[in-house]
Amino acid sequence: MESAVKEIAGILTGFFQSKTVAAALELRIFDAMDPPARAEVVCRRAGVPLASGKRLLIALEAMKLISRENDEYRLSDAAKRCLVSTSPQWMGWMARHCDVFLYPLWGQCAEAIRQDEDRRTAVFGDNRSWFDILYQNPRDVADFQEFLGVLAQPFVDGMIESFDFSPYRRFIDIGSGCGSLPMSVARSHPKLEVAVCELPQAAAFTREKLDARGFKDHIAVFEGNVLEGDLPRGFDLVHLGWMLHDYAIESQRTILENILAAMPSGATFVASETPLNDDESGPLFTSLLSINMLVSTDGGVESTTEEYLGRFRDAGFVNTRAQTIPGPRKLLIGEKA
Ligand SMILES: C[S@@+](CC[C@H](N)C(=O)[O-])C[C@H]1O[C@@H](n2cnc3c(N)ncnc32)[C@H](O)[C@@H]1O
Repeated sequence: MESAVKEIAGILTGFFQSKTVAAALELRIFDAMDPPARAEVVCRRAGVPLASGKRLLIALEAMKLISRENDEYRLSDAAKRCLVSTSPQWMGWMARHCDVFLYPLWGQCAEAIRQDEDRRTAVFGDNRSWFDILYQNPRDVADFQEFLGVLAQPFVDGMIESFDFSPYRRFIDIGSGCGSLPMSVARSHPKLEVAVCELPQAAAFTREKLDARGFKDHIAVFEGNVLEGDLPRGFDLVHLGWMLHDYAIESQRTILENILAAMPSGATFVASETPLNDDESGPLFTSLLSINMLVSTDGGVESTTEEYLGRFRDAGFVNTRAQTIPGPRKLLIGEKA
């Protein structure tokens, strides 16, 4: 195939790969390869017909997620880490979230761009906010929060390694999800008082996670909506992770003003985001995430570092700056005078 045609055909059929892996996850095909086994055995363990199951195995091998030795299929290292349902890094949560929510919304991508508007009403017949639709049933909350927890871990490790928590006494993580950052902070800085604030619909999930890891008496959980300003007060270090991008620029301003109002004088605010490059040349994932925000959220959009920091200054933050840390995110920092 001519290389330009091959390149474009590869992009256009990119969903073949994502759908193949999502199907294999739903059918627990990867679980059925532990221990390694011949196609007949893998398909029998997964409860799928050999003929169609074999097509799946051939495709997964071509994608290098599995390999064969003596006719027995075995998992690659990446598959062992992320595709087996007993692994702490299992990505099946993400596959289901994509199938149930994102894939139908992306099906109307051109219309979203034509109208500069999300497609929630068209796809789900529901004009409530993104999080109201997403958080209707506990299984969908778990899918969303669990996969975000897996994606967040390299960022959490980078922030613990590089951010200086020592000047602070009281830390709150707003929109904490599965609580991986506050748990790591509580573990590494035992003298710091640690709390989280979550939307009421997600707070039960956060509490369960903290309880299960033994943090029930160490991390307070407040229910609140940062857009409405019902936030706990008096925390001298406030973090907001991967949430500004979920909201329209006007709402981001309201969120920043509400946070500033809840902070004592001299306190520090940190947002962790994956900003666009300064010249808007990517990165690829952030640029596609911005389209994802368009089709799904309430006007959410990705921004450059300077755009975020400009909004911090407009809201009244001083000494605004960015800090690069190991891992996928950047810290955007502001202080209250
Ligand atoms: C994209 S997730 C990010 C989760 C986690 N903070 C991270 O950094 O990976 C956004 C989180 O913010 C919470 N959230 C969204 N809107 C909120 C609001 N208005 N007030 C409080 N929390 C909110 C959601 O429930 C969700 O847990």
